Amino acid sequence: MNMTSRVLLILSSLLLLSGTASAFYDDATFANINEIVTEHFELDIFIDFTRNVFSGTNTLSMRRTADFLDVVTLDVWDLNVSKIIDQNGRDYKFEIDDPNPNLGQRLIITIPEEVSELEVYNFTISYETSPTAEAISWLTPEQTSGKEIPYMFTQSESIFARSLAPFQDTPSIKTTYVVKTTTNPEFVTRVSGNMTYDYTDCTSRYSTFEMNIPVQSYLLAIASGNLVERRIGERTFVITEPEEIEKVENEFAQLEDFLIQAENITIPYEWGEYKLLILPPSFPFGGMENPLLTFASPAIVPGDKSSVDVAIHEIAHSWFGNLVTNNNWTNFWLNEGFTVFLERRAVRNIFGEDYMKVTAKLENQSMYYDMLDYGLDHTFSSLYPIFHGENPDDAFSEIPYEKGFQFLYYLETVIGEENFTEFLRKYLAKFSQESIGTVDFINYFTSFVTETFSENESRDILEEIDFDTWIYAPGLPPVTLDFETEEYNQSIELAQNFLDGTVDKEAALKLYLSFSVNLKGLFISHLIDNIEEVDEDKASYIDNTLHISSEINGEIIYRWLQVAIRSGQLGSPFTSAEEFVSSIGRQKFVMPVYMAMKDIDIAKAKEIFERHRDFYHPLTVTAIEKKLYNEIMISE
Ligand SMILES: *[C@@H]1O[C@H](CO)[C@@H](O)[C@H](O)[C@H]1NC(C)=O
Ligand SMILES: *[C@@H]1O[C@H](CO)[C@@H](O)[C@H](O)[C@H]1NC(C)=O
Ligand SMILES: *[C@@H]1O[C@H](CO)[C@@H](O)[C@H](O)[C@H]1NC(C)=O
Ligand SMILES: *[C@@H]1O[C@H](CO)[C@@H](O)[C@H](O)[C@H]1NC(C)=O
Ligand SMILES: *[C@@H]1O[C@H](CO)[C@@H](O)[C@H](O)[C@H]1NC(C)=O
Ligand SMILES: *[C@@H]1O[C@H](CO)[C@@H](O)[C@H](O)[C@H]1NC(C)=O
Ligand SMILES: *[C@@H]1O[C@H](CO)[C@@H](O)[C@H](O)[C@H]1NC(C)=O
Ligand SMILES: *[C@@H]1O[C@H](CO)[C@@H](O)[C@H](O)[C@H]1NC(C)=O
Ligand SMILES: *[C@@H]1O[C@H](CO)[C@@H](O)[C@H](O)[C@H]1NC(C)=O
Ligand SMILES: [Zn+2]
Repeated sequence: MNMTSRVLLILSSLLLLSGTASAFYDDATFANINEIVTEHFELDIFIDFTRNVFSGTNTLSMRRTADFLDVVTLDVWDLNVSKIIDQNGRDYKFEIDDPNPNLGQRLIITIPEEVSELEVYNFTISYETSPTAEAISWLTPEQTSGKEIPYMFTQSESIFARSLAPFQDTPSIKTTYVVKTTTNPEFVTRVSGNMTYDYTDCTSRYSTFEMNIPVQSYLLAIASGNLVERRIGERTFVITEPEEIEKVENEFAQLEDFLIQAENITIPYEWGEYKLLILPPSFPFGGMENPLLTFASPAIVPGDKSSVDVAIHEIAHSWFGNLVTNNNWTNFWLNEGFTVFLERRAVRNIFGEDYMKVTAKLENQSMYYDMLDYGLDHTFSSLYPIFHGENPDDAFSEIPYEKGFQFLYYLETVIGEENFTEFLRKYLAKFSQESIGTVDFINYFTSFVTETFSENESRDILEEIDFDTWIYAPGLPPVTLDFETEEYNQSIELAQNFLDGTVDKEAALKLYLSFSVNLKGLFISHLIDNIEEVDEDKASYIDNTLHISSEINGEIIYRWLQVAIRSGQLGSPFTSAEEFVSSIGRQKFVMPVYMAMKDIDIAKAKEIFERHRDFYHPLTVTAIEKKLYNEIMISE
């Protein structure tokens, strides 16, 4: 209550102070975005696999919005900037300062008085990245499937594009772009954009990519290695190393159908083609929605199509996140909550209502664990996290995804499915290619309700919805939705029977084998929730009965390992855990396993992490270090 009114007070005073409607807000950028905005950039880089750096230029086309300029500030992170000139060849003085170790650095370009009123500044910035750039993972040949040439890929969300090149690195600024890459001839490069040029001579390979729809900087993605591409549908393609292409092609045979489902619910797909690139195992996330080039973990290719939800999720971002975008990281739920909503709607249409509900139930549980981890009354357990100089990734969890999804699902129950679908389409049309905040959403939803329903009906509807608690209050939502199904009940009951020691082994195995991956996840979650009742013998008994530790899907293994480690099962769960966390770098899987190891034997957990540190993406290294070494960086 208190919290909410304080937030509202801050909100309204900000609105008053800012005056104009076009003011941008993002505490996670150092760029002076209310004085000048980037409209386009042209990145021209050599991808140097001998030194593990990009070197080249980024030309930012910027339009002045203030009356005059004396400085232009940009976001950078460990970049070595050597020269800045404009379209007329004028050299600019600059310096780099270090205001906050969580958010990178500030590049300050001094604007002399005689050019303080130019309309457009096309700054060409010569620079080089650091070999330890937070966004870039450089893999040795041994870390690839082919084992012959190295591999490189980037991950920019949330604020790591600034370690690739100087930018106004905030989701409130959207630009078009051109990216030109040069590599040695044996490398195939892909960038989030349409490839418009690709030429190889005896020394180099030159490729050019274009993005004609304005997007935020975190959607820039680059990968280079031994890659092959296959068309699998009218607009859909898969890309990966040659050794994996067959498997990937089979796994995503339905990709075009997923795209059709999602656009049928929303509005036509605007981006052109849809390409899914399956990366090496160290990719830190399930997927990343880079437009025209979704990146995904091989964890979503178990071989039995049981993790295609992630591909549907990334497709759903083509509308939510990539067309309508959160203006800053406090409003991240506008990206993820809407995307999960569309994902689940498509999943329901394809796999049925029960399948969708089971997924919602399982992910609700993951959300709850994240809330417990932050504390049920911590601002990061709300849909509207308030930052005090932290890195936005510190608030990254299931909460914006699942609480956001539940909020939208709840709103749908209030106004009805047809009306809600209509709302989504109008919302997309209204805010496409814009960056918005939660208040924009609330205002638009309110006006939709007022236009759609009679005066009395809209009053009742709007009175019924407790926007403030849903959005600003931490902890579980004010309304508990019902996602229980018969199969859900069976999975919990089976787990309870094991806890009570009342199972018939044969029947238990038969039932367990009939479960989907998510039902198996729920079964194991119930054991985790009651871990104090699972000793070594019980865990062994469960595994001997159901053979969980030999499952192929990481969704099951990462959960089971927590039971195994926390119960001390077989005395050797750390061996299996080490094998697992060194074979896959998806944070969703490895973080909880490291946490379980930490709680049981922190020295061993650190030892295992140090042995495999080089395997992980820099973002994952940072995330694990923060947990194992408690390196929580307090700002200023
Ligand atoms: C995010 O934007 C909102 C306006 O939409 C603003 O009130 C809030 O302070 C901003 N938060 C951050 C962390 O920049
Ligand atoms: C700045 O760059 C943009 C985009 O490349 C280009 O269209 C424009 O003509 C340039 N402006 C000037 C003044 O050179
Ligand atoms: C930065 O780049 C210049 C060459 O452009 C080089 O001489 C210098 O050593 C580099 N500095 C760092 C810290 O890498
Ligand atoms: C990609 O190219 C296609 C075909 O030329 C075009 O329709 C689409 O708009 C382009 N997409 C982007 C984002 O530039
Ligand atoms: C598209 O959605 C409508 C309902 O809105 C449905 O009747 C139709 O069958 C769907 N089309 C496809 C191709 O799924
Ligand atoms: C959609 O809104 C109309 C009012 O415009 C209302 O009469 C109708 O019941 C709503 N549909 C559903 C499925 O609730
Ligand atoms: C709307 O509500 C008011 C009282 O809240 C009532 O007097 C009026 O008759 C209602 N109008 C309709 C059309 O139901
Ligand atoms: C989500 O999980 C929490 C904790 O187990 C539970 O209290 C809540 O009822 C669940 N919500 C739903 C929608 O199932
Ligand atoms: C699941 O179990 C609960 C409580 O045991 C019961 O109330 C509910 O009706 C069951 N749901 C289904 C769909 O069987
Ligand atoms: Zn997402």
